[in-house]
Amino acid sequence: MADKLIIFDTTLRDGEQSPGASMTKDEKLRIARQLERLRVDVIEAGFAASSNGDFEAVRAIADAIKDSTVCSLARANDRDIARAAEALKGAARSRIHTFIATSELHMEKKLRMTREQVLEQAKLAVRFARNLCGDIEFSPEDGYRSDPEFLARVVEAVIAEGATTINIPDTVGYAIPELYGDFIAKLRARVPNSDKAIWSVHCHNDLGMAVANSLAGVKIGGARQIECTINGLGERAGNCSLEEVVMAVKTRRDYFGLDVGIETSQIVPASRMVSQTTGFVVQPNKAVVGANAFAHASGIHQDGVLKARDTYEIMRAEDVGWSANKIVLGKLSGRNAFKQRLQELGIQLESEAEINAAFQRFKDLADRKNEIFDEDIIALVMDESVSSEQEHFRLLSLSQRSETGERPHASVVFAAGPVEHRAESDGNGPVDASLRAIESAVQSGAEMLLYSVNAITSGSTESQGEVTVRLQHAGRVVNGVGADPDIVVASAKAYLSALNKLQSKIERVAAQG
Ligand code: KIV
Ligand code: ZN
Repeated sequence: MADKLIIFDTTLRDGEQSPGASMTKDEKLRIARQLERLRVDVIEAGFAASSNGDFEAVRAIADAIKDSTVCSLARANDRDIARAAEALKGAARSRIHTFIATSELHMEKKLRMTREQVLEQAKLAVRFARNLCGDIEFSPEDGYRSDPEFLARVVEAVIAEGATTINIPDTVGYAIPELYGDFIAKLRARVPNSDKAIWSVHCHNDLGMAVANSLAGVKIGGARQIECTINGLGERAGNCSLEEVVMAVKTRRDYFGLDVGIETSQIVPASRMVSQTTGFVVQPNKAVVGANAFAHASGIHQDGVLKARDTYEIMRAEDVGWSANKIVLGKLSGRNAFKQRLQELGIQLESEAEINAAFQRFKDLADRKNEIFDEDIIALVMDESVSSEQEHFRLLSLSQRSETGERPHASVVFAAGPVEHRAESDGNGPVDASLRAIESAVQSGAEMLLYSVNAITSGSTESQGEVTVRLQHAGRVVNGVGADPDIVVASAKAYLSALNKLQSKIERVAAQG
């Protein structure tokens, strides 16, 4: 039997540390459910001690997820570890992931601690954690830039204290595949009790080699866990991308000889969900999940694929969850057909009231758009949950006037709690006028960091526009997403959704790595 490769997803922790990718508790829960459908082995749900919001999100995920292990990050101190254990109490299977930096640079400049102090703190942290949870992961932060001899002492000591997984992060994305693989192989050989733990890789993508480095850590170094994120989301240039690393191991099973338990047909839905939630658009030529990943444009390639698919395709689009823009429902479709399609798409709405509300939105959309695709349904449900979870601001109606040579003018009616507001403004274009109108009434003072529009389905101007607005206020960055066949309306919805998120106050301790 082949060895199993453990897939540890950190979209909700390291991915969320990416500036602008912060998510609400409900958004995280929705993504965690998708990760469970994807059958990832471990979901790193957050960093419980970093904020009350993160604590609640980890707790909600721990309570809801049954098939994956749920993990919380914790710095190597008793308070963080106790907080993680508390948040994970309801989990069917839980893991505490504790870390402390071990590179000279980090110890001296950031922690201002000596080697002996770091070693002692790592031991105490793992000992404390082990009394609260049977599954403990330890990461020496900036491990790849640490002195191998000191690192081996730390790792040996924490395994002796009960750490069950040892994760070696390339925190700053400095590694080169062969060197990183070799580093892990030599480290394992240096640690006398190395066989008592599972070894793991955690690579950042600063030089574009996170996936290659992770694979080398497995192949050369003998690691049996990969830490990764959907769409490679993460700080700076991101983390190792789950879809790429999983499909590499599966497609080249002849080379890696490892089993992964991932349900690959859930990869594209997971990618879409993360992209829609965070507003981080997937580049069209991104491997596996980019819109062009399976598109053959040249005549020679098209001809080859029609004659024999494997002439130019090494994976099948449907195996990773691509469905050919199918018209799935129309305005005559009933509630049962809608509910069944939601199930087929793996979308779980919590209550009958939520299904009814989503169905009503579907009917409204079907009145305006002849063909409803899977992508429309996903956007509609996302939109629905955004507006039902934080519904202080709701768009009621919008009209705008624009004419060549004239300055556009918009008038917007929206609810702020029980109060109805009517606001008007002109602007450079109809979108600008509409958002200025809302802002003139709300006076949030927020700065707009991003405005982006995407067509939900390609190939027709009938498509819904999906707008992401990223706002920053008082040190917080939030994303709002809105979808509608009218992109001005989609923009107003996205703006109001971002304002709703700014309403909820969250304080956060800076996470590392
Ligand atoms: O990149 C890093 O070092 C991390 C650790 C906290 C595991 O994310
Ligand atoms: Zn990291």
